[in-house]
Amino acid sequence: MTDQLIAPPAVEAPPASWWRNAVIYQIYPRSFADSNGDGIGDLPGVLSRLPYLRDLGIDAVWLSPFYSSPQADAGYDVSDYRTVDPIFGTVADAEKLIAGAHEHGLRIIVDLVPNHSSDQHDWFKRALAEGPGSPFRDRYHFRPGKGANGELPPNDWPSIFGGPAWTRVTDPDGTPGDWYLHLFASEQPDFNWEHPAVRDEFKTILRFWLDLGVDGFRVDVAHGLVKEDGLPDVGGDAEWHLLGVGESPCFDRDGVHEIYREWRKILDEYPGERIAVAEAWAPSLSRVADYVRSDELHQAFNFSYLGTAWNVAAQRQMVDESLAAMRAVGAPTTWTLSNHDVVRHTNRLLQSGDGEVAGRRPTEVDPVAGLQRARAASALMLALPGSAYIYQGEELGLPEVVDLPPEVRQDPAFHRATGQDGYRDGCRVPIPWSGTQAPYGFGPDGGGSWLPQPDSWAQLSVAAQERVPGSTLELYRAALAVRRSHPALAPTDNLRWVPASEGVLAFEREVAGEPVFRCTVNMSDQPVAIGRPGELLLTSGSLDGTPDNVVLPPDTTVWWSI
Ligand code: NOJ
Ligand code: CA
Repeated sequence: MTDQLIAPPAVEAPPASWWRNAVIYQIYPRSFADSNGDGIGDLPGVLSRLPYLRDLGIDAVWLSPFYSSPQADAGYDVSDYRTVDPIFGTVADAEKLIAGAHEHGLRIIVDLVPNHSSDQHDWFKRALAEGPGSPFRDRYHFRPGKGANGELPPNDWPSIFGGPAWTRVTDPDGTPGDWYLHLFASEQPDFNWEHPAVRDEFKTILRFWLDLGVDGFRVDVAHGLVKEDGLPDVGGDAEWHLLGVGESPCFDRDGVHEIYREWRKILDEYPGERIAVAEAWAPSLSRVADYVRSDELHQAFNFSYLGTAWNVAAQRQMVDESLAAMRAVGAPTTWTLSNHDVVRHTNRLLQSGDGEVAGRRPTEVDPVAGLQRARAASALMLALPGSAYIYQGEELGLPEVVDLPPEVRQDPAFHRATGQDGYRDGCRVPIPWSGTQAPYGFGPDGGGSWLPQPDSWAQLSVAAQERVPGSTLELYRAALAVRRSHPALAPTDNLRWVPASEGVLAFEREVAGEPVFRCTVNMSDQPVAIGRPGELLLTSGSLDGTPDNVVLPPDTTVWWSI
């Protein structure tokens, strides 16, 4: 027998801060929707797809950077924080998008990049043009080199994108001069956050976008702004990665928190609960929790969860640790499985072994098994208490594109040092919307797409999945509809584990101390029969069974109303 899904109970969620259990959808603008046929997604493209986002059932959109930028790191190298890059549109387009999103009941979170600017930022250009002694050099980290002629970098810090974190400049008179610090690409000089002008500048940038109506900020490299005094050597052949940076003199220094306390005051001046979410790769969950103390930011990405292996013990432990760490500071936990920097979880959850951090270099996996596991993982994530971040395309079950030829890749890390976080293009391939041929409605026919889309993506397009029972898109829509309406899914800290057989994870969510919702996940490699605890709300895979029992295939998640 095949199970039928029942409609969720129509009960209004209790009033609460919108962000505590929000589902926030990440748009990578260059890959979402292209309005003018240049092969690059843009803000009018996003505007045209607002009905899709509303129908998906999300609460808010986070847009990766669309500001003026030479695009050395796909917009994470900002040359002007108050303008929109012409490839994405204009400030007027941004205003239209913010207003349009609000009309569709969606909030807009924009990306803020405070750790570094572009080397084409006015301040940095003046720092170079004015030569040694320029006051603009103090707004970055300029230092003389070591060695007899200053020919060696000032310290041994590595760039996260490979090679040294320092580049030597040529002074206006043509002679080799000082070096400047860049934790990422050389086109991304790090700001000196000890300088009051830097602090003031970012306060006015926050206000600029808040005044335009944005509902919040995603703070890029939130753990990196403050560097240890004296920029001391780290010793040895240190390698720093985007994913999981341990103790170091330039990450997670205590001094960053003062900055976020100032920002929180600004956010709180505005009506409607404007929020900030930290991208903070800190060494432990309790250090991550420091960023979301009640007078700091609202949320922090839970990257520890993203890197957790797909097995009962590891998942359960990580959920417990995440909830406990955030509970300690009164913040909601967040959950995320994919973003624009990591291998899509359709591939990653199959390719990573026990305890291994999210794979940096993607490998081919069985697409059917990969999707089955990804759907189970997404349904598990969306049943957890707290706020969930989903990345464009995961609702279509898009796989990682593993075979992009080197000549089309644009990740700066790929070109700086192969093998080090340089494989991010594979999760950035533009979205297939409709049709049988590339660009699959991403933009006008003939407009192409900045990264090539695989031939197999026609069957994964939005049009191919809409209203198709069992499609990944309909699974996400159903999950988000239940999340909105089921009373047990609104509170952010009401999870209780229940006993389950080997390889099965099961938990309940309570309302007023009574369990009313259950999530069961078969993480084993065998089908598992369980008694029906209640009425089926959602399943990530096809089920068999009898009126009393239901059989969950491997890698399947089910939700019950009990
Ligand atoms: C983190 C962003 O998510 C990533 O895409 C970017 O390359 C670095 N920060 C540098 O801004
Ligand atoms: Ca375009």
